[in-house]
Amino acid sequence: MAAERNAYETRAEHEAEIEALLAQLTLEEKIGMIHGAGLFRTAGVERLSIPPLVMSDGPMGVRAEFADNEWRTIGTTDDYVSYLPCNSAVASTWNRTLAKRAGEVLGAEARGRGKDVILAPGINIKRSPLCGRNFEYMSEDPYLISELVLPMVEGIQENDVAACVKHFAVNVQETERLWVDTEVLERALEEIYFPGFRAAVRGGVYALMGAYNRLNGAHCCTGKKLLNDTLRRDWGFDGLIVSDWGGVHDTGEAAESALDVEMDVTADFDGYYMAQALLEKVRAGEIAEALIDEKVRNVLRLMFRLHMIGEGRAGRKSGTYNSREHRDAALDIARESVILLKNEEALLPLDEKKVKKVAVIGQNAAAIHSNGGGSAEIKALYEVSPLLGIKELLGGNVQVCYAPGYEVPTEAPQGELNWQADSTKKDGGTASGKPEEACAGKPEEVCAGKPEEACAGESGDAAEDRSAAYRQAALQLAKECDTVIFVGGLNHTFDSEGRDRKDLALPYGQDALIEALLAVNPDTVVVLLAGSPVAMPWKERAKAILFCYYAGMEGGYALAETLFGRVNPSGKLAESFPASIAQCPAHSIGTFGEKDVVRCAEGVMVGYRHYDTVGTELNFCFGHGLSYSRFVYRDMKVVPAEEDGGAGAYTVSVTVKNDSKIGGSEVVQFYAAPLSGNGEQPHHALCGFRKIWLDAGAECEVCVLLTKRAFSYYDENVHAFVLWRGGFEIQAGSSARDIRLRRKIEHTCK
Ligand code: BGC
Repeated sequence: MAAERNAYETRAEHEAEIEALLAQLTLEEKIGMIHGAGLFRTAGVERLSIPPLVMSDGPMGVRAEFADNEWRTIGTTDDYVSYLPCNSAVASTWNRTLAKRAGEVLGAEARGRGKDVILAPGINIKRSPLCGRNFEYMSEDPYLISELVLPMVEGIQENDVAACVKHFAVNVQETERLWVDTEVLERALEEIYFPGFRAAVRGGVYALMGAYNRLNGAHCCTGKKLLNDTLRRDWGFDGLIVSDWGGVHDTGEAAESALDVEMDVTADFDGYYMAQALLEKVRAGEIAEALIDEKVRNVLRLMFRLHMIGEGRAGRKSGTYNSREHRDAALDIARESVILLKNEEALLPLDEKKVKKVAVIGQNAAAIHSNGGGSAEIKALYEVSPLLGIKELLGGNVQVCYAPGYEVPTEAPQGELNWQADSTKKDGGTASGKPEEACAGKPEEVCAGKPEEACAGESGDAAEDRSAAYRQAALQLAKECDTVIFVGGLNHTFDSEGRDRKDLALPYGQDALIEALLAVNPDTVVVLLAGSPVAMPWKERAKAILFCYYAGMEGGYALAETLFGRVNPSGKLAESFPASIAQCPAHSIGTFGEKDVVRCAEGVMVGYRHYDTVGTELNFCFGHGLSYSRFVYRDMKVVPAEEDGGAGAYTVSVTVKNDSKIGGSEVVQFYAAPLSGNGEQPHHALCGFRKIWLDAGAECEVCVLLTKRAFSYYDENVHAFVLWRGGFEIQAGSSARDIRLRRKIEHTCK
């Protein structure tokens, strides 16, 4: 609530100055301030000391410097930056303090690079594991997103840089991303898709980006119901609304909507809908100038908040980039983001004193990922690969041998190709990264991600021969070593803006290789490095499985530390890992990947809300993540608490003990489960969590406040949240399916 007060104070303080400036601006100047005048900036007004508003992508760091009027990076050597773990990794830490540190780094680096707005964080709901941009997003759960977006935004904005949460709203697939219409019922919007954004607005986020897609028929960047009614009127947002690049399609609609600034991927700046065309319509009296004034007010308000204009200007923070503290933050986040999915026979941690000859197998052991993924690409100062991390950690007395194990076809260089601009055209966001025809008849591992030409010229046999040779060499190496670590997974050919994955399968024949490695050495440790879940047909045979999202510049080192026990893993899944895509409600109940209309018919039953209601046999459930320690839960206490002066909230506490010989962190999760008589409700939903560190043998009491919202659902008949009828159960556990303590509460709806 403090942030809300701050935002209000800022507004009151500067409103008179905003009006004074507005009165001096010509119509042309005003219009210059509300559309792109460079690919990542608006026009300033020099005579009034109004600077341009300069933006840059996020979310894993500040993007390389772009030419002002051509869609290409300019290729200097002074725009390398710290590369942070992606948002999925940050969410896997379940650590609010680390989310804040991620924000602090992003904000300081954006400011250090002279930016005003960082186009991050991405907080869309992970509705299907196939959405290409999932790695940029946090979770399938709105509560977890809401809890992490706040500190992240705070961290960014402390640096006099605006966070710009994106993409509002329900931007859940890349296929035909500018045109697809996403159909969602009101209840699902309120319970699932809106809360993260609403939390960011309540917490004082300065800017928000509209989504490319349509929502229930209207383009999100200019939809009046979404922007004018929900965002401005109902949530009271007085910050800046920016379009996604190329997300505006009509001058009149844009003018009348609450959108403030139109951005696009083309350099025809005068041709933007909110440029010359708007000027002419205002001059002709077809559009009221008052609508333009409102947008300019929002631009100016943001500038005051960021100390870009007015008296505060002299004290504006200057930021910095590539500092040692930023790299330390990247490492700390990476360490807590590694998720130990399975660890039979306590295979992990490996003993660094006992290993003599280690086989590290798989392309992701050596690959660099920072430079891919779409607008989230980072020109990283450096990126420690897993192989480098393992070698750094073990030093020269251990032999660490690498074999790629399979082939990753190189993508054709994009050259002058403006993929981002192309992906905004009709048929631009594709269902997979490759033209189907070119790859017809070729094995998946050969064609994955290959452009037409690269794919067409090669015989399947030649590629298969190469794959077999890679595999053979890897198996031979595995036989010769005492320890085998496989590091595979996905890359940004699959986890990418502008395209969705076709299925959950690991590409490049990795499943067969993993099976073969497990046959050679049943103690092979399987590490998957990816931006989204994959199927794991070998899951039962592998004793130890680790999962890392793209983990930033220090990711390889954090992984090595976890493998060898210098770090005790504490990451937890912020999304469910289904065994097959057919299990996913977005696919089995709703539709996904359609070009015209996507039906979110599963409603609120997204992710574990569905899986735990119907009892799906998953690979790994929401909230899951093992530790080298063992935690024991006891003594659950539930006490009624007051909220806004009324009853209905509860304080819940449990005692957690680290019943092992090694210190570690546990994420204590609280879920609320309605009992019978509440119509169609998810089995349970996350409503609180705390991450705690416990020394070996130590214990502590963990206490959370569960607000009324935890025991409510959105009733479409009254357009409001109402309390569940009947009783409910409060659950405390180590994952959504490892509930250790429960307490039933009799509760009467008033
Ligand atoms: C993406 C946004 C990004 C913008 C600017 C768009 O294609 O959807 O997330 O911020 O480009 O690069």
